[in-house]
Amino acid sequence: MTLTKKKIIVIGGSSGIGKSVAALASNLGNKVIITSRNHPIAQLTAKSIGNGVEGMALDIDDESQVNEFFKKQSGIDHIYIAAGNTKIGSITEGSLEDKLQTFNTRLKGSLRVVRAALSAMNSGGSFVFTGGISTDRPIPGAWVSGLGTASAEQLARVLVMEVPNIRFNAVSPGYTDTPMWDTILQENKKSVLADVAAKLPTKKIASPDEVASAVIFLMSNNSVNGEVIHVDGGGRLV
Ligand SMILES: NC(=O)c1ccc[n+]([C@@H]2O[C@H](COP(=O)([O-])OP(=O)(O)OC[C@H]3O[C@@H](n4cnc5c(N)ncnc54)[C@H](OP(=O)(O)O)[C@@H]3O)[C@@H](O)[C@H]2O)c1
Repeated sequence: MTLTKKKIIVIGGSSGIGKSVAALASNLGNKVIITSRNHPIAQLTAKSIGNGVEGMALDIDDESQVNEFFKKQSGIDHIYIAAGNTKIGSITEGSLEDKLQTFNTRLKGSLRVVRAALSAMNSGGSFVFTGGISTDRPIPGAWVSGLGTASAEQLARVLVMEVPNIRFNAVSPGYTDTPMWDTILQENKKSVLADVAAKLPTKKIASPDEVASAVIFLMSNNSVNGEVIHVDGGGRLV
């Protein structure tokens, strides 16, 4: 199984896991487009990866943007949707609408992409969604994330029944060392991730490249469909 000479779009490719997927896929000889909500950041990141990677602007919370973006695309083989955030907080604080923002990005954002992209995809192509450990092991305060990751993983199953000749899979990362944690944990990042690592069977936090290699596998194996690959060091079992 190889993944080469394909057209791959990474939604949320400006950082972390998405950026690693773009780097790995482009090193394998694929034509890769990455997106960020911020066009200059998309372009700068694409340039830093090299290999002819292209950077474009896309916010999957905005349906008209998603539709316009895919109207201009054709011949897509694979789409990886990394786009997402985590919001920590109690179930009672703040407005529900605000709380559900990250859930909406993951579920509605992913559905917007699928609906708009299908007509621009080659038969035999695939989508890979991003779930996460909080589906199996809810994390205190991260209840919205647990809802979002579960919905992304379920998308990979229900859509298999809806669209022939296109595969749908998901990757479910455990704690992964990416800039997302810099934003959430700030100066506590190092100590919190060290505590998490100590409790994992593998005694280490996953790297974005380890998650990215699972995404590449899901794209490259033409018979894997409706699957969720966990890259969590066994964290969901302990
Ligand atoms: N890191 C972990 O431990 C972990 C664990 C489980 C699941 N996950 C999930 O894995 C995915 C990637 O995580 P990461 O750690 O690599 O995060 P990250 O470094 O913060 O990257 C998130 C990416 O998503 C993009 N993005 C966010 N909202 C978007 C929107 N509405 N439309 C389009 N793009 C959007 C960001 O782009 P811009 O900000 O440039 O627009 C960025 O490229 C996320 O969905 C995250 O929740 C991460």
